[in-house]
Amino acid sequence: QSIIAIVPAAGIGSRMGADKPKQYLQLGQQSILAHTLDVLLSHDDIAHVIVALHPQDKHFNALPQATHPKLSQVMGGGERADSVLAALDYALSIHPQAWALVHDAARPCLRHEDINKLIGSITQYPQGAILAAPVRDTMKRSDVNGLITSTVDRALLWHALTPQFFPIKTLHDNLSNALAANVLITDEASAMEWAGVMPGLVSGRADNIKVTHPDDLHLAALFMAQT
Ligand code: CTP
Ligand code: MG
Repeated sequence: QSIIAIVPAAGIGSRMGADKPKQYLQLGQQSILAHTLDVLLSHDDIAHVIVALHPQDKHFNALPQATHPKLSQVMGGGERADSVLAALDYALSIHPQAWALVHDAARPCLRHEDINKLIGSITQYPQGAILAAPVRDTMKRSDVNGLITSTVDRALLWHALTPQFFPIKTLHDNLSNALAANVLITDEASAMEWAGVMPGLVSGRADNIKVTHPDDLHLAALFMAQT
């Protein structure tokens, strides 16, 4: 089974508030995006990596990975889903039968162990699956005034992580139709759910965090230093 990694990296990192998009911030030896690409490019089952970049991106071509033979660039869009769809358009043109492994540029702590677990779930979940982490805290539902109305059963709640793993053609069509229908799409699974598919949940490592706020940089550096 041929696998193409898709990396949305066209965001501007407004919550990070740094002087450049967060995927280009330094984390130890190299930038966040460089770490993320290394994990994907070094995985033997991943045939190709497509990275979606901001139209005004000024940093990507300075990365050592930019000229890697397994890597292609496409122009991203206004929302994360638009960037993923742009990469899927290209993926479909080169490998229509392949599977897409979509992974946020901003999750540099991903391990091959988790990629293997997700890819290996294909027999159990031929419709596709995502990495996810079980919710640890007690969960509350509130009213609009911030008062607790109920406790939600944590056993059925998960944090959606990436990578998310789906057949390219199905994901492309569902994402494109869901966007046209103006549905709230915050990950690949949401487009599949909207189309009536029930993706599998594969429990992933808790250190696969998305670098979102400045504090996350310290956490990511700690996780990265562990072996
Ligand atoms: N992303 C993208 N295209 C967009 C928006 C986001 O490719 N139009 C990417 C980001 O680069 C990131 C991933 O999607 O790797 C997850 O998005 P998020 O963490 O929200 O990153 P940003 O949108 O850059 O951050 P913020 O929302 O704080 O501005
Ligand atoms: Mg964002």
